[in-house]
Amino acid sequence: MKPVRKRSCASAPAKVILFGEHFVVYGKPAVLAAIDKRIHVRVTARNDDKIMINSNMNFRGSFSRTKAERAVRKNFHSMTQPILAATIGAMNEFDSFTGLDIRIDAGFPYAVGLGSSAATAVATVAAVGSLFGRLSKQRICEVSLDAERIVHKNPSGADSAICTYGGLMLFEKGKEARPIKTRLDLPLVVVDSGVKRVTGKIVASVSKLRKSDSDVFDGLSNMSHGVTLQALDAIRRKDYAEIGSLMTLNHSLLRMLGVSTNTLDMIIHKALNGGAIGAKLTGAGGGGCVIALAGRNSQRNVLKSVRGYDAFATKLESRGVLIS
Ligand code: MEV
Repeated sequence: MKPVRKRSCASAPAKVILFGEHFVVYGKPAVLAAIDKRIHVRVTARNDDKIMINSNMNFRGSFSRTKAERAVRKNFHSMTQPILAATIGAMNEFDSFTGLDIRIDAGFPYAVGLGSSAATAVATVAAVGSLFGRLSKQRICEVSLDAERIVHKNPSGADSAICTYGGLMLFEKGKEARPIKTRLDLPLVVVDSGVKRVTGKIVASVSKLRKSDSDVFDGLSNMSHGVTLQALDAIRRKDYAEIGSLMTLNHSLLRMLGVSTNTLDMIIHKALNGGAIGAKLTGAGGGGCVIALAGRNSQRNVLKSVRGYDAFATKLESRGVLIS
């Protein structure tokens, strides 16, 4: 099948995990939010069978069809590998292949827990798929999760789901993600600790702890479960004070799990002193970002309190993947 369009663009939002990261990999619930920053993927069909990848995220590559298909099967660590998997996965949905120029532009920091790899995979599947026909959101999510598995080995699927559907959601592995209906504003400040890290490695270190200290892990996991359920209730009641203090409590659990760092703890301390209602690391930890819930009109004060770090104010994004 030939492409029905020569070019297409898609974008997917960044995400934050408000409650439940890591424990979500082992079946506990997590609350995620899409935020108003995006990754844009532009694809143009070529007249040959090359796949050319360019991005503003410090990676690029040029692959023949054979090399691209081999790269997807072989297990090597490269930023381009999940993109090739997403590209070929999307074309396989239509039993097709075409050479492509793929341009990826991230409008937020990457490899810091904001879902850059999931958003890239989701937007790539959507952009490539739309050259040939229509893919449902569910299929976009599934194909992009297969691509994510290449790098993250054991992803819960939470990142792919939130980057596909957007909004605020309750996610449990293996179940359909449930949107949380609320008019809650989410005035957040995202602070980048400046340390990039590989999610798969942190997830693997947690898996090691789970095996060696299973009682400790189970205790933390049950507490995380309780915090997430209580947070869900607080979100429904729009009780900002409780949401904030549960975020900070969630961070303590992650610290005990061993995925925080001194820098992340220090940023959280500064943000809370600067007036944040609650703060925690978001995503895998080991570096990456802190999210702080700011009170109404207090994002600026929180930003001031973490001066010296790359930080930005953000809010909930209701839209997930978009195709144009
Ligand atoms: C990474 O953004 C979130 C983790 O819970 C891993 C996952 O859910 O796959 C750490």
